[in-house]
Amino acid sequence: MTDTTSPTRLRLEQLRDEIHFHNYRYHVLDTPVISDYEFDRLLAELRQIEAENPEWVTPDSPTQRVGSQPAARFDKVRHPGPILSLANAFSVQDVYAWNERITRIDERVAQADYVVEPKIDGLSVVLHYRNGIFILGATRGDGEVGEEVTTNLRTVRSVPLRLPVDPAGPPAPAYLVVRGEVFMNIADFDALNRRLEQAGEKAYLNPRNTAAGSLRQLDPALTASRPLNLLTYQIVSIDGQAPVTQWETLAFLRALGFPVSKEASHQPTLDAAMVEVQSWEFRRSSLPFEADGMVIKLNDLVLARDLGFVGKDPRGAIAFKFPAQEVTTKLLDIGVNVGRTGVLTPYAMLEPVDIGGVIVKQATLHNFDYIAEKDIRVGDRVRVKRAGEVIPYVIGPVVELRSGVESVYQPPTACPTCGEPVENLSGEVAWYCVNAACPAQLIRVLEHFVSRGAMDIVGLGIKIVEQLIDSGLVHDVADLYTLRREDLLALEGFAEKKADNLLAAIDASRGQSLARLVTALGVRGVGEVMAADLARFFPDLEALSRASLENLQTIEGVGPNTAQAIVDWFERPANRQVIGKLHTAGVWPQAVSPTEPVGEQPLAGMTFVITGTLPTLSRDQAKEYIQAHGGKVTDSVSKKTSYLVAGEAAGSKLAKAQELGVPVLDEAGLRKMGGN
Ligand code: IVH
Repeated sequence: MTDTTSPTRLRLEQLRDEIHFHNYRYHVLDTPVISDYEFDRLLAELRQIEAENPEWVTPDSPTQRVGSQPAARFDKVRHPGPILSLANAFSVQDVYAWNERITRIDERVAQADYVVEPKIDGLSVVLHYRNGIFILGATRGDGEVGEEVTTNLRTVRSVPLRLPVDPAGPPAPAYLVVRGEVFMNIADFDALNRRLEQAGEKAYLNPRNTAAGSLRQLDPALTASRPLNLLTYQIVSIDGQAPVTQWETLAFLRALGFPVSKEASHQPTLDAAMVEVQSWEFRRSSLPFEADGMVIKLNDLVLARDLGFVGKDPRGAIAFKFPAQEVTTKLLDIGVNVGRTGVLTPYAMLEPVDIGGVIVKQATLHNFDYIAEKDIRVGDRVRVKRAGEVIPYVIGPVVELRSGVESVYQPPTACPTCGEPVENLSGEVAWYCVNAACPAQLIRVLEHFVSRGAMDIVGLGIKIVEQLIDSGLVHDVADLYTLRREDLLALEGFAEKKADNLLAAIDASRGQSLARLVTALGVRGVGEVMAADLARFFPDLEALSRASLENLQTIEGVGPNTAQAIVDWFERPANRQVIGKLHTAGVWPQAVSPTEPVGEQPLAGMTFVITGTLPTLSRDQAKEYIQAHGGKVTDSVSKKTSYLVAGEAAGSKLAKAQELGVPVLDEAGLRKMGGN
């Protein structure tokens, strides 16, 4: 029998409440109160308890956001009421005409107030809650029957799994059905596409398609990996009294813990509403998501209901559509960029054109398959879209406007920068330049090598990288370690202090872990996590460079493609030379460095705060060190802090620790406690 009062069980409940709350602070309110690290610790503790007590796992547990078994198909769900659409207005006159029409039907409209909301370009979803627990989620479908995507929606961080999310909120109705929009923020969309392109996979066309495609995945784990978001705006059905105005509906949804658009506003008259709507036309690119217009809604929901609907469009609301950010122009030529991993990306060179106030000369063509699939020819008139901050892209050709002189594009067989032959891996759409000495790649390779998650060479930005390459001082990453003071002083903008600082930063990076060095090499498919796994498996770079395909694939997470990419990388003579040079230059970390995870966890259960400058470890390295030895690092000193690790120029944190009686360690003291 399950004991619901045992300390473990109580801890489990407490953890769930806390995690739901912090998740909400982060994903809905945008004001987290704990660090990601602390959040992960809470989640890990909950996972542990659930792993030991599987009978306690419930669908509303925050651990269930990861996505479970893939489904064979989606079930159908009948919505509790029609999920309506919206009529469109394309001009201010259209909106006033709408208002006059409905005033003729019901004179109460003459005194009406309004709510204005962004029209989020995503896909409509319907969420069901029984006694506050999220039990069912569906897509809109045809408005009457949708597809059941509960497990997928559970992976969306801003979908509340349990209401009210904040215990201080109003009690959840016995049954509640809410409607909202699932979408992807533009920045997340761009980042996802960059990742896909670098991994040689097909990029997505726009945030809306991506959100729709991600939600309608049969494998929820895939949905979980996509940065999807939710905003809610309507109560479809409720047990008990529903709010009688739209403005109160939004407040009620917010109070229960649903995400609600921050940009929604309450307007006393239609004139005021239209001023607001039009102001958004010019500010639309400041929205984090794509909006194709603003929705103007009668605030009085009783009046709106009484007005009824025309077809699938309720009379009580209208969508004011922003002008399309889409134009046609001439495709003058197709250029090709070479990325860090050597991936070749085609782009359109366009006859300059104004899209929403921005002159566009270039647009992405995603990949060579895309050009072929859409039959995009040089000389074509093409449709180009630019929405918000999304990089402009070519939608397709206007075939009717062809004159016959357009030419079919042939993808390059050689790298446009270095002239070496390009390669295509089976199963990938991308073509690669595999010459590590390719100058186009070298800039990106170096940029990545010195970046924060890799060798973390502070002060070595893109400008200096370019200078070093252009001046012929650096031909590969290993050359950084043989730079001399006089070499740098000969470069423009380098005074003694700058040169010395850079050399010191480069020198300090020799102490980085093997995991970071492996990340820094930038082998395709090998990110930070996999690099850390490889660094646990192989004692040094030499051992990794000799690893066989079979051997590599025994490591969890390393599939055949990545294993092949690793083997290929180390087989290339230029890369072998780089490894040899790194060795000679003393950039040769061993698997067990002080910052690597170690077997013993002498710091387990202790919480540390780091302040000031430590003699040998950077802030990040000290943090890694503590974590690798089982300790926890937080940002501020409190009574719960076990130790303050203080270096030179420690300030207010030191004072606070002394005030609270928190013991203070220096770096040597920390290493002593950690055992090395
Ligand atoms: S209200 C009766 N509000 O736009 C309620 N819809 O073109 C009708 N949409 O199907 C919908 N943001 O998927 C409403 N703030 C918003 C919206 C919104 C996006 C979508 C919704 C609808 C489509 C109509």
